Amino acid sequence: MTIHYRVTGDVSFYDAVGEVLRNDGTVIFPTETVYGLGANGLSSNAVKKIFAAKGRPADNPLILHIAAREWLDRLTRDVPQRAMQFIETFWPGPLTLIFKRSAIVPDVVTAGLDTVAIRMPSDPVARAVIEAAGVPIAAPSANLSGKPSPTRAEHVLADMMGKVDVIVTDGDVEHGLESTVLDVSKEPYTLLRPGTITLEQLLKMAPDIAFDETLLKKSKLVQPRAPGMKYRHYAPNAEVYVIDRAHDALEIEKILDAERTRGKKVHYVDMAAEDLVGQLFAIFRNADAAGYDVVFVKSVATEGVGLAVMNRLLKAADYKIL
Ligand code: TXA
Ligand code: MG
Repeated sequence: MTIHYRVTGDVSFYDAVGEVLRNDGTVIFPTETVYGLGANGLSSNAVKKIFAAKGRPADNPLILHIAAREWLDRLTRDVPQRAMQFIETFWPGPLTLIFKRSAIVPDVVTAGLDTVAIRMPSDPVARAVIEAAGVPIAAPSANLSGKPSPTRAEHVLADMMGKVDVIVTDGDVEHGLESTVLDVSKEPYTLLRPGTITLEQLLKMAPDIAFDETLLKKSKLVQPRAPGMKYRHYAPNAEVYVIDRAHDALEIEKILDAERTRGKKVHYVDMAAEDLVGQLFAIFRNADAAGYDVVFVKSVATEGVGLAVMNRLLKAADYKIL
């Protein structure tokens, strides 16, 4: 049975949530990026329940969420001096950093890797949940594996009711795309997943940051360095196509008409990158609910948050561009 708490004036439920987490239970909570499905990140037994609830492949490592800087030294072997600038600037916030892991981090969290992903969320509810637990919280996005990450309360309730011990909802999340992931465990530092903290912002601080080439291209030869990026995530059941923004309105109408003629129910999305950040995942989920067969999304420039939008969009489209 799942207990559902809504964040309202009364916040006395945090004690109960902390208790559930300390007893190896699972708790869904909002963060500023997407909803997360959390468990005690120092307990293998607890973390295994996350994989079971999501149906997530065990080779995909999890992010440890912390509310206090002290945990950083306990979870890592080496925090490079040069990496501290990212922490000073972007924590708490939507930046996940990858470090060499310490011995207290269970193997299930890192999928056996020698590194660990750590992030300090800024969302007050996320912070209160982590603080109530008193331990780092391992948490992937709270969707069923293969579905778009949940950005609204109704998404987690639809996916996860009955599959976890507690769901805490607080309406829509602030951003709507998962955190930026930057690997600082070895040189050159590498962007593994773009997010609302942009590559341009990071490059200003460290001009030599590398870019995982699989972020915008499918490659049979190169595996993404973030194991999770190899899965066809973020996808609705409807077929997704990216429409090159170089097309004019008439050309786009032709593309849509071709599908309509084949009897398909077609949805066309033409939005600014900044709006897609908050709405792309909800658009995908709504497309299925509305029974669309095909979703066309007009591409955006891969600059600023557009890089993160195009990364998620191309994956959902399996890199099909018209
Ligand atoms: O915004 C977010 O990051 C959300 C909220 C809940 O915090 N969480 C999230 O977690 O998106 P998840 O598990 O859906 O995505 C984590 C990504 C995956 O692509 C995973 O492969 C990668 O981070 N990752 C985790 N640990 C890693 C490691 N040690 N090395 C490389 N990639 C890692
Ligand atoms: Mg995910």
